[in-house]
Amino acid sequence: MTIQPANEPSVTDRGLLSTKAYATGRHLAARQSLYQWQTPQHDLPGIVVNELAEVRGPIADVGCGNGKFVKRIREDRPDLTAVPMDVSAGILGGVPGAVVADAQQLPIADGALGAALALHMLYHVEDQAQAVRELGRVLSPDGVAIVSTNSRTDKRELESLWRRSAGDVLGIPEGPARVQLSARFTLEDAPTVLGAVFTDIRTIPLPGVIEVTDADPVVAHLASYEAWADQMGVPFRETVERARERVEETIRVEGAFRVTCLGGILVCRRARVRVRAA
Ligand SMILES: C[S@@+](CC[C@H](N)C(=O)[O-])C[C@H]1O[C@@H](n2cnc3c(N)ncnc32)[C@H](O)[C@@H]1O
Repeated sequence: MTIQPANEPSVTDRGLLSTKAYATGRHLAARQSLYQWQTPQHDLPGIVVNELAEVRGPIADVGCGNGKFVKRIREDRPDLTAVPMDVSAGILGGVPGAVVADAQQLPIADGALGAALALHMLYHVEDQAQAVRELGRVLSPDGVAIVSTNSRTDKRELESLWRRSAGDVLGIPEGPARVQLSARFTLEDAPTVLGAVFTDIRTIPLPGVIEVTDADPVVAHLASYEAWADQMGVPFRETVERARERVEETIRVEGAFRVTCLGGILVCRRARVRVRAA
C-alpha cells in the first residue's frame, strides 16, 4: 500500500480515470447528489446557461462526465450546438452525440467555438497549461471559456472526518489525508493557470453549507473515491464504515452533520485587440 503526496499523479492517470473513477457515472453522481442538502442551492447549469447568453455558434463541454450540463444547455438553448467530450468512454453512454477526446488535444479547428466549458475537470489533466492553451485555441476571438473547481478550503470537515476515521482504523490520532481531486487546480490557483491565455477572468464564488441528518449521502461521497482506495494509506472500506459511525454520532449529539463548501465558476475571455485605423 503506497501513500502518495497530495499531488499524486494517479488523479491524472487516464487508465484509472476511464476504467475506474469514471467508467460509469456512479461515483460522479454520488458526489453531485450531496449538494442537494446544501444551503443555499446553486443552480450550476443555470449559471452556465446565463453566462452563455451572448454566445452564438457551436460550443464544447470538455470533460462533460455524465452530461448534466449539456442536457440543460440543450433544453434552454436549443439554438446552440453543444458537443459533449470526455476522455472516459464509459461515462458517455447516456450522453447523445458525445465524443471521446482529451482536453490536451481537442479535435476542434482553431477559432471554431463560441464557448468551451471545462467544469470540475482541469484538476484531472496532466498538462493543465496545454489544456488551457487548447481552450484558447478553439475559441473565436469573442469566445468564452467557463471553468469550475473547488477552493482549497472546500469540504474541510470531510477531510478531517476521513483523517480521524483513518486514525481510528490504524490506532493513531489521525491517519493520512485522502486523495483530494481539486488540490491540483484550486479556485485560488485557477486565475493564475487560466491567466496564461485569458486576460479577463471573473470568478463567481459559490459558498454554502451542507447539512445532513442521515449519514448515507456523506458515506456515499467518501465511498465514491474507491478508484483511489489503494493509494489512501489505510484500509478503504473500514475507514468508510468508521466514518459512518462518526457521522451518526455527530448527528445523534448535534442533530446534524455539517460540511462547509466553497466552489466557484470562472468566466474567461481574451481582451479584444483594437486595431487603430491609419
Ligand atoms: C469530476 S468529473 C466532472 C464532469 C462534469 N464536467 C461535471 O462538472 O459534472 C471530471 C470528468 O473529466 C473527465 N476527464 C478527465 N481528464 C480528462 C481529459 N484529459 N480530457 C477530457 N476529459 C477528462 C473525466 O473522465 C470525468 O468525466
